[in-house]
Amino acid sequence: PRLVILISGSGSNMLAIAEAISAGQIDADIAGVICNRPDAAGVQKARDRGLPTLVIDHKEYSSREAFDAELRQQIDDCEPDLVILAGFMRILTPAFVAHYEGRLLNIHPSLLPKYQGLNTHQRALDAGDSQHGVTVHFVTEVLDDGPNIIQAVVPVQPTDDATSLQQRVHAQEHIIYPIAVKWFVEGRLKMQGKQAMLDGNPL
Ligand code: GRF
Repeated sequence: PRLVILISGSGSNMLAIAEAISAGQIDADIAGVICNRPDAAGVQKARDRGLPTLVIDHKEYSSREAFDAELRQQIDDCEPDLVILAGFMRILTPAFVAHYEGRLLNIHPSLLPKYQGLNTHQRALDAGDSQHGVTVHFVTEVLDDGPNIIQAVVPVQPTDDATSLQQRVHAQEHIIYPIAVKWFVEGRLKMQGKQAMLDGNPL
């Protein structure tokens, strides 16, 4: 199977997936890494690994639709079986999402359905939550709306600030994202209607 990974930032989840492939844990090829920010640290990390890497700077496009059209063209040129949003910080148009429905994954740093959107770590702290975490989900037209595939839960410590909590969550992201990708490429994970299914059973 062929993967395309979209990033905007440090690219550590992209690296975790690339390492799981190199280690023989996931039987797939990364056909492309695409980043919307020329200065993102993840771009160099992808190039250093020898991955086909492309920058599509969203600032050079006059509209979200124009950017998404170019993004879709470049992704489709890679002929992916699965498109992986790994810290890709652009909202995608409904037409884009529909085109990849059932083969588009995202990772979101909260225990969805809690804390859709931004600043999730601070919001969990402000709410006094004793637990926080991260979710891998199929992408639908509604932002951060699941359906959920896998979550990792971390404790919130009394001394935590948003940075320490974010670091604890990030470590778990690198464990659960490769697991979800592995399930998908093995044909075990599917979206049926708006339900994620593993081995034919609802998750
Ligand atoms: C992660 O916190 C992820 O949950 C969020 O964006 C961040 C990406 O980190 N959606 P990285 O670029 O993979 O290091």
